[in-house]
Amino acid sequence: PIPVIIDCDTGVDDALALLFAVRHPGLDLRAVTCVAGNTDVDGVVRNTLTVLEQAGAGDIPVARGAERPLIEAVRTARHVHGQDGMGDLGLPAPTRRAVEVDAVTLLRREILASPRPVTLIPMAPLTNIALLLRMYPEVTRGIERIVFMGGAVATGNATPVAEFNVWHDPEAAAILLTAGVPITMYGLDVFQRVLVPAADVQRLRGSSEPALRLAGELLAHRDPATSGDPTPTGGIGDAGAVCAVVDPEGITTRPLPVEVSLAPGPTRGQTIVDRRPRPGESEIHDGPREQQLVDVALDVDVERFVKLYLATLEGV
Ligand code: BDR
Ligand code: CA
Repeated sequence: PIPVIIDCDTGVDDALALLFAVRHPGLDLRAVTCVAGNTDVDGVVRNTLTVLEQAGAGDIPVARGAERPLIEAVRTARHVHGQDGMGDLGLPAPTRRAVEVDAVTLLRREILASPRPVTLIPMAPLTNIALLLRMYPEVTRGIERIVFMGGAVATGNATPVAEFNVWHDPEAAAILLTAGVPITMYGLDVFQRVLVPAADVQRLRGSSEPALRLAGELLAHRDPATSGDPTPTGGIGDAGAVCAVVDPEGITTRPLPVEVSLAPGPTRGQTIVDRRPRPGESEIHDGPREQQLVDVALDVDVERFVKLYLATLEGV
């Protein structure tokens, strides 16, 4: 199995991603690190521990990370994810706590201890990852690839042009994008498209297995941010980034320069993706020359990911 670490702000769709990662036989989920985003970091830790417990994976180490972005204030998305940050489903409190060490320390430890290079899957503001890269740059030798949910080629959600995870901590996202390891950007353009049909959601809700029921309830949670529609959407959201690790051929990517707007004002947090034809380096007349190219997901095979998601959860 592929060794992976998830960095999250659980979060309705982060929870869907955790359920998938725990159940997919091709993944070895070595740790989960938490960061402020959809809700405050203590809420994120609580939600993450609860979900893992419901999934029968109460032994995976979970660490508490940054409680605020590098520069910005915390701006939660409780209006989308509910007061508890995870759909207000009335889930039980977890029976264990986060590990003693902080998220950055746990990330470093797990990355360097892994016998095979780790795939990092950040699906939240990138504060923990930026701190990791700055504090322990040696970790890059233990990272196979970073597949992150964040950014948008076209339209944003937090603002007209900025996606929430990047907008919440733009400086951290800018650090990630120059990490010097292969990066895949699973942005809003694909994120918003993977929707589970209502009949499947209902089947999950009616399951006798708690983890499947939980997935059903989470999928039925109204998430206007991912649908623009007030009715239940079935969006798997962040889980799509994990699908892209298991099944990279489910997305179509192109290696492109991506820059984060750090300017104050209406573009702050926008990911500017340069899709102009690039016949040769010498023909680029502007922009930084040493910019790292990012594999940007431009298309997704929706049916394939929905099938993968459901089959993995239901074990068929
Ligand atoms: C991202 O923001 C969060 O609300 C979701 O969990 C997802 O990671 C989408 O913009
Ligand atoms: Ca998230």
